[in-house]
Amino acid sequence: MRTRLLVTGASGQLGGALALLAPEAVVLGRAAMDFDRPQTIAPAFATAAPGLVVNAAAYTRVDDAERERAAAFRANAEAPAILAGLCARAGVPFVHVSTDYVFDGSKGAPYRESDPPAPLGAYGASKRAGEEAVLACCPRAIILRTAWVYAAEGRNFLRTMLGAARRGVALRVVADQRGSPTYAPDLAAAILAIAARIEAGGWQDRFAGITHATGAGETTWHGFAEAIFAEAARYGFPPTPVTPIATVDWPTPTRRPADSRLDCTRLREVFGLRLPDWRAALARAMAALFAAPV
Ligand SMILES: NC(=O)c1ccc[n+]([C@@H]2O[C@H](COP(=O)([O-])OP(=O)(O)OC[C@H]3O[C@@H](n4cnc5c(N)ncnc54)[C@H](OP(=O)(O)O)[C@@H]3O)[C@@H](O)[C@H]2O)c1
Repeated sequence: MRTRLLVTGASGQLGGALALLAPEAVVLGRAAMDFDRPQTIAPAFATAAPGLVVNAAAYTRVDDAERERAAAFRANAEAPAILAGLCARAGVPFVHVSTDYVFDGSKGAPYRESDPPAPLGAYGASKRAGEEAVLACCPRAIILRTAWVYAAEGRNFLRTMLGAARRGVALRVVADQRGSPTYAPDLAAAILAIAARIEAGGWQDRFAGITHATGAGETTWHGFAEAIFAEAARYGFPPTPVTPIATVDWPTPTRRPADSRLDCTRLREVFGLRLPDWRAALARAMAALFAAPV
């Protein structure tokens, strides 16, 4: 890609995947652009002199956000708004990432972009505030709402499951929350495909706003766990039983949406993109993980 990419969130799952797929990108971590020190944002932006910005940094600790509400809003709304404003003034395309947790999960069908958000907790509320703030500062921003992000590295459900099984923990996983696992490298590839379209055809108005982008297909956390161990078994991982439980039996500080499936039709119609099926993606993730165990 000729366009100079600036990616935030270097140490994160999505930022890391973007760094691998676009080695020419300027990928900044907290040391260079710290959302808790907003005065670092404009200088880092100026130094990078980007042709396109992808904001992959976020406060993602869903439960901690309840007691660190200000930090969540700083990283997920206030800082992205600053970045969006810088992009708008410089005419630089801005891609921001949001979450299925802006919804309460009560629709009973995959959510469309036009469905009204109703976040259940501070994290979801901060991400929703980020969507609004980003679009207020940069009306042509591209916001991709994703869900259940995981990778072979980082802090995620896949690695939590394997780690717990290795420690001999008896696994009980909620079977009444539905959603779509999204492999970070697949989301990164979609973002780079969008960047390539912008490079080829310009930052078109029809790209603007919120677009849903998750792995294709759906499951529950319990179904995801079972699929993880089925895949892991192919690499000699011992068979691991996973007991299905109800959300009420697994209390957390933040309520999760019961059904946060996202309808990704707009991603196909506007960008001509569809993320791969979550099961096929999981097979690739597992191959990557067992190729370099950590
Ligand atoms: N993970 C999921 O299941 C999920 C689901 C739906 C949507 N999303 C969204 O997808 C995007 C990517 O998520 P991810 O899974 O890649 O997240 P992640 O692995 O948790 O990484 C978050 C990144 O943000 C950085 N960050 C956090 N607070 C920061 C701050 N104050 N200043 C600068 N950098 C900061 C982190 O840096 P440090 O390492 O220094 O903290 C890290 O690099 C986010 O917008 C997230 O909200 C994620």
